[in-house]
Formats: sequence, structure tokens, C-alpha cells
Amino acid sequence: DRMLRAARPGARSVDEITGSRRMRRMRKADWSRRLVQENRLSVDDLIWPIFIIDGENRREPIDAMPGVFRLTIDIAVEEVEKAARLGVPAIATFPNVDHSLRDQTGSEILNPDNLLNRASRAIKAAVPQIGIITDAALDPFTSHGHDGILRDGTIVNDETVRQIAEAAVLQAAAGADIIAPSDMMDGRIGAVRDALNEAGFGDVAIMSYATKFASAFYGPYREAIGTAGLLKGDKKTYYLDHANSEEAVREAEQDVDEGADMLMVKPGLPYLDIIRRLKDELGLPTFAYQVSGEYSMIKAAAAHGWIDGEKVMMETLLSFKRAGCDGILTYFAPEVAALLNKRG
Ligand code: PBG
Repeated sequence: DRMLRAARPGARSVDEITGSRRMRRMRKADWSRRLVQENRLSVDDLIWPIFIIDGENRREPIDAMPGVFRLTIDIAVEEVEKAARLGVPAIATFPNVDHSLRDQTGSEILNPDNLLNRASRAIKAAVPQIGIITDAALDPFTSHGHDGILRDGTIVNDETVRQIAEAAVLQAAAGADIIAPSDMMDGRIGAVRDALNEAGFGDVAIMSYATKFASAFYGPYREAIGTAGLLKGDKKTYYLDHANSEEAVREAEQDVDEGADMLMVKPGLPYLDIIRRLKDELGLPTFAYQVSGEYSMIKAAAAHGWIDGEKVMMETLLSFKRAGCDGILTYFAPEVAALLNKRG
């Protein structure tokens, strides 16, 4: 203060500038920082996405996702048990379906005993206390990697919707607690709701991948489920343009009207503005999917020693809470849960 005046006589003191309001007062000690902390990440916020493969007693590494593996059902059951013990409330399952079973229409999704449904049954039987979210989209089942039925170069909407609604019923019958349609077809939420209700699954919830953006952040996931080499063209004719937020709100509103119980924004970190808008404008339970590319970027930079991976992981997850999320789908879930439990 004296220095300031000395440097420039007549200059206002900092107290005059701030009106004596000192923001740093509450930042000076760990106890006071904890006391005024507005948002917190808890184990209850975590949903763990896992990849399933056929076979037994195997974990296949995924090159682009260090630390993430494709798991055979028996191993997945063990890992999910561990996650449940850590307090993780729910998982989301993604199958890497044998390529011989993939076709133009993704017909394997209608097999009640497909890999995804077998995994749900096994996990439900062994770990009934964890919530199971299944992704109702055709991409793991189609020979072209698109989320819908491909005809003459177009993803046909209505036929895809009918198939997804049928598949949702099979997924519910296999033990899924939440159906998460991730295909971005028009009318899918209402169709899935109707089909579930008619089949007696009125208590199965729907988490809509409401605002799923056409994004380059899904790259590593496509390696994980084996669609990377298959996909021709892009998904821009059905996913949202990442330049748009008004459209994202309208898309989410539509899903709420059709019966969505929960909304998801995907990818996560580049779309915090969308999370905040949906939470404020629609007020539904809102989730972010911290997608594969977000995970891989953190892992890669950390492996180079360029960032502190653990700190960046925690900072990104807390950002989702600050933006208004009720929970986050993240490949970090078991690691974060262990860390949060340790910190107590
Ligand atoms: C598609 C689907 C995608 C992801 C999950 N389900 C995107 C896609 O392949 O287009 C991405 C998840 C991730 O990147 O972690 N049904």
C-alpha cells in the first residue's frame, strides 16, 4: 500500500479500490477453502462405461485408451463387483460384437442372447445392487458402424426407431435398469417409452443421449468397439452440429416431451455451456459423458509428464458438477471412486 502511494502519489490504495472487500480472505487456509467450497464430486456421481467382448477370462487392452480394457463377461462381473464395492452407483455397457454377426441393419441387436444382453443378465445376477445402463443404438451391430439402418447411403429414421424400441425391450428383459438411446433418430425416446410400457417395463427409465454432437472426440471408442475401420462417411446427418446450442436445447426439450427421465450431454468438457443451459432451462437430472477422446487426451499428456493426470482428472470432473451435472459417465470412475474413498 505504502509502496503504491510511494510509486504514484495520490494513487488509490487497494482498500479504496476494493471497498475493503478482499476475496482472498477465505482462500488463505485449507479449512476455509473447504468451508466455502460450492461444488463437490462424490462417488455417487459416477457412472462407469465398460466394454464387453465374447470369450472367457480375457482383458484386451485398447491402444488409444491406456488403462481401459475390453472384458469378457466373467471378468466384467468381477470388475463391476469391485466398482459396486467402491460405491459406484451405475455402469454403462458397450459390446464389441464379433464381426461375423454385424450386418447392414444391425439385426443382432434383436437377438435376446446377444453379447450385450448376456452381459446384463450375468451382471444383474451377480451384482444386483448396481444400476445397468444399456446403449440402445445399432453401431456395435452394423457392418458399417452407423447408429441406424443404412439404405442407399441414408440412415433411415423410422425403421431404425422401430428396431431400437424393440431392442430396448430386450435390453430391459435382460436386466437393464436404464435404457440410453444414443442414436439421435427423431422420435426414438417416445417410441422406446411406448414399447417399454407395453411390454410391462414401465419402471425402466430412459436416459436420453439428448445432445449428442458430431464429434471427433469419439475416436478411441470406435477402436474399443471395433467400428473404427468400418465407418464410412460421418454421423453429421443425425448427430448435432457442434456449432449449435439453440438446436441442442430444442432437441433436449423434444426428448423431455417424449418421456426422457434424464438427459445427457456428449462429449462433456467442450460442451459445459450446453450442460448449464439444459440444467437451467429443463431442470431434469443431467449427465455428461466424458468421452473416450477426453480420457485419452488426459492419459496421453500425463504419460508424457506434461500434466498431472490425477489432478486434471479431478478438475475436469468437478467442472461437470459446477456446470450443473448430476453425474458423469467417465472411464476414470473406478480410479476416482478409489481416490475419493481414500480421501474420505
Ligand atoms: C454411439 C456411441 C458413441 C459413443 C458411445 N455410443 C459414439 C460414436 O461412435 O459415434 C462414444 C463414447 C466415447 O467416445 O467414449 N452409439
